[in-house]
Amino acid sequence: MQRRLSRGIGRAGVMLAGAVAIAGCGGPKQGFGRSSTEGASGANPASGGSGAAPPTANAGAAGMSADSDLVGLRRAAAKAGKLIGAAVDARALREDPSYAEILAREFDYVTPENATKWEELAPTSGEYAWSDADSVVEFAEAHQQAVKGHTLVWHRQNPTWLQASMTPDEVRAALKGHISHTLQHYRGRMRAWDVVNEAVDLESPSGYTESLFWEKLGPGYIEDAFRWAREADPDVLLFYNEVGVERIGPKADFVFEMLRDLLARGVPIDGIGLQSHVSIHRYPAESNLRANIRRFAELGLRVNISELDARTLLLPGEREGRWEAQRLAFQQVVGVCATEPGCEGVTLWGFADEYSWINDEGEPDDALIFDRGYAAKPAYDGVLDGLSGVLPVVGENVIENGDFGRGVEGWAVAGGEVSVGAAEGREGTQICLRGRGSETDGLTQDLRERLASGGPFAFSGRVRIQGASHAPVTASLHVEVEGTEPEELQLGIIEAPEGTWVELAGCFGLGFTASPMAIELMLQGPPAGVDLCVAQAAIGALSAP
Ligand code: G3I
Repeated sequence: MQRRLSRGIGRAGVMLAGAVAIAGCGGPKQGFGRSSTEGASGANPASGGSGAAPPTANAGAAGMSADSDLVGLRRAAAKAGKLIGAAVDARALREDPSYAEILAREFDYVTPENATKWEELAPTSGEYAWSDADSVVEFAEAHQQAVKGHTLVWHRQNPTWLQASMTPDEVRAALKGHISHTLQHYRGRMRAWDVVNEAVDLESPSGYTESLFWEKLGPGYIEDAFRWAREADPDVLLFYNEVGVERIGPKADFVFEMLRDLLARGVPIDGIGLQSHVSIHRYPAESNLRANIRRFAELGLRVNISELDARTLLLPGEREGRWEAQRLAFQQVVGVCATEPGCEGVTLWGFADEYSWINDEGEPDDALIFDRGYAAKPAYDGVLDGLSGVLPVVGENVIENGDFGRGVEGWAVAGGEVSVGAAEGREGTQICLRGRGSETDGLTQDLRERLASGGPFAFSGRVRIQGASHAPVTASLHVEVEGTEPEELQLGIIEAPEGTWVELAGCFGLGFTASPMAIELMLQGPPAGVDLCVAQAAIGALSAP
């Protein structure tokens, strides 16, 4: 569906009648390329890092406007030493003056949303169509914005001439040629490139996205792509970009191990993009996102929140409440990045609801920070506050006896022999379940009287396992509402190493238009025979400070 370029009234928010939806939740100075002295993590992109900008720094660097000329998000980002970016729709940039005006005013880092993808650059084999991508790069250079190319290798939006009938050598030659040709065309004009995008898919037997590249070239294509990119441009930053890894969990863990292995083998990877396509009822808790950013930064990688948007229509409720919850989601994710040295900055996956990719993928949503009339939404203020390092606060704990100071009072034990005692290796009390007969054996608490529709809420728990080297622990809500199917949605999941207290955390929103028959918190997950201990469980309402 072609996106409408008129600024017509968008569709009214679609109310989900009777549905329950829950899930888990907290200027540039020129962007410079790599420089030998610039540290990988902690480098301040706005200052161009510690080293002088290499000759390949983004051409716009020379015309950098002073911070005092900046306003809005761009000014807040410059003060925070972070990048604030947006994915750019080349057609809207060309044809919609309001779009271009906001892009220039508010952002210092642009990513062509589609224009630098293979199908757009080379729809015909052997011929390159640079004009749309060039227009985005030229706009950026004219407005002292850095540019991230997106994306050289992906299983989607490849040219139709790239066929499964090609031999492995033909695919290898085509891919290497594309990477080399594209990076050489933009040499010195791009701060960074998403080299490989979404190469991991835990649903597949191998754990990798079994794309044409994977099938023809094996997992080694990932390493090859980064080495070919480095050969083509020794200065540009090379990123791996992934969806669904902003929260610690099995996929983020897989990507972490994959990147650690690649880096250990000397593969030239400078950074990771945590895409962060979130919803007002599914975004990372502050502590979880911090820990996730830190562990990638400790690998020496620059971390970007690379594709942030926050759906609001998967929860029923009035627009005002949904948009306030959206504000908090943006504030939390942006605020964590702004206060984590390893996070370089945030790129929103668009900025105007009218042009969100989500509108073309089924049910439209209002996932961005400017409404369909280009008015700033509360989410804009969320980004602004986040860039200023102001994060949402969590209200009082609604869980009864969440610290187990009164033993198992208020809790139900679903399987296993329960013991209460001093928490091993930490303050406070622990509840342990031994002799568990299945992964669903755990602790539950009825929250029907303690949680109502709305939110967002932040969940946090301290858990430990014994009896296996590691095991998954999950927190979830079992919700039953008259007239709808029961739902059990995950608030958080963590692969806990034996004998170590770990935090299980996530944010969520509740939305139902009939009174719930059950809202039950469940802490469970390790397989039968593995002991599960819990030292703390808390749910608090998130609000602006
Ligand atoms: O360019 C053609 C146009 O010629 C044709 O008339 C039209 C017919 O519908 O399609 C146009 O192509 C569309 C393309 O965007 C350019 O507008 C495709 O149909 C459409 O599927 C494609 O959607 C893009 C999507 O990636 C494709 O996978 C979205 O705009 C883009 O925002 C989205 O971005 C991805 C990131 O690259 C990676 N992370 C996930 C993110 C969201 O899916």
